[in-house]
Amino acid sequence: MTLRISVIGTGYLGVTHAACMASLGFTVIGIDIDPTKIAQLSAGILPFYEPGLEDLLKTELATGRLTFSSQISDATDCDVHFICVGTPQVKDGLAADVSYVHNSIRTLAAVAKSGSLLVGKSTVPVGTAERLRKEILEINPELDLAWNPEFLREGFAVEDTLHPNRLVVGVVNDQAEHILREVYAKNLGEGTPWIRADLPTSELVKVAANSFLATKISFINAMAEVCEAAGGDVTVLADAIGYDPRIGHKFLGAGIGFGGGCLPKDLRAFMARSKELGADRALDFLREIDAINLRARARIIDLVRRDLSDDLLGKKIAILGAAFKPDSDDVRDSPALDIAAQIQAAGASVTIYDPKAMDSARKRFPALTYSASIKECMTGADLVLHLTEWKEFQSIDPREYISIVRNPIMIDGRNKLNREEWQAAGWTFRALGRSSKY
Ligand code: UDX
Repeated sequence: MTLRISVIGTGYLGVTHAACMASLGFTVIGIDIDPTKIAQLSAGILPFYEPGLEDLLKTELATGRLTFSSQISDATDCDVHFICVGTPQVKDGLAADVSYVHNSIRTLAAVAKSGSLLVGKSTVPVGTAERLRKEILEINPELDLAWNPEFLREGFAVEDTLHPNRLVVGVVNDQAEHILREVYAKNLGEGTPWIRADLPTSELVKVAANSFLATKISFINAMAEVCEAAGGDVTVLADAIGYDPRIGHKFLGAGIGFGGGCLPKDLRAFMARSKELGADRALDFLREIDAINLRARARIIDLVRRDLSDDLLGKKIAILGAAFKPDSDDVRDSPALDIAAQIQAAGASVTIYDPKAMDSARKRFPALTYSASIKECMTGADLVLHLTEWKEFQSIDPREYISIVRNPIMIDGRNKLNREEWQAAGWTFRALGRSSKY
């Protein structure tokens, strides 16, 4: 019989997982305590932007395999329950707030049928799963808990969920692994690497992967600082080192650094947890990774100040991009918006355009000005900043736009614009880590 699956928490991860599981033929119910979200999702409306996901949601709703509810008791009959609730950074420290995971797992354990498997997908501090498993067994000894971290990237969420580059399952017994093999049978058939681990290792894989990615980005941003000091070009350097297959070209994009709902909070929570475990020295370097990342934001503001003779008061700054990365409307810890807010706080008048993240940015920073188009945003600007590398910005014709700005100064915070083209069109062009041709 086909497995019935529940997905607890219908945020980014949960909705994607629910829709993808339904597309594999499972009967899926998505559960969330927010009735507004449930009403939207049931009507086929995705509360955020993610390429391809709204179409998939509509398709799967239409098949009848996918439903949503705000009542956890509606998940009682399911065989497998995926826990996909958030673990944000706590307000007064670096650690992750695991209260949503705790609460949903405890509530679920009270209603889940005997023999069903609870599977954590949320990113949690190592040790959480073992603790929760004990609690669950106290509530109902016929339940089990496994951990199955999720590595999806925003902007590629559907693709990454349907075709992950590996599947990691933290289990305590063969029965749990057997059920998960059934869930992921299609991927196994396609040869996706399957890694069985114990619970703590499976929790660690996720934070280790994100810490490594963050380290790569901060490494290249540190090189950008050195290139600026030495008169080198970090884009050429990244390209050159990336040809070594042990290094690779990916995640060596120097610029204003990483943001979003995962990398920054995960590496902070990892540091906090390692301290609790008495292994804080091991992750001391992550402090520096975080510091380099935040410094990139400060460095670009320095470039702005330099070009405007340290006088930002009343200057019009056009900002292209608000999302933390392209193909997303997510502005959580977005370097672009952080920079925008800091420049505005320094007295400039900031105008932002983003192809998809206008609503989420406006909610987060209502005091900034938002434009309906690139043209409106750049009109009359004393300086333009390119902060999120949407494709649309790479096809801007610098010759056309030079006539609408007050001062043709472009600062590329993502190293994705063609410097030669912009310079040939008469712009002053700056970028982080590329001081050689200023
Ligand atoms: C990340 C992980 O990649 C994913 O596996 C995990 O499940 C969740 O966290 P995501 O937050 O979607 O995914 O974004 P990612 O593509 O990793 O980018 C993170 C940040 O790094 C973005 O702000 C991006 O702009 C920045 N970045 C990325 C760089 O600054 N330079 C690069 O070369 C690559």
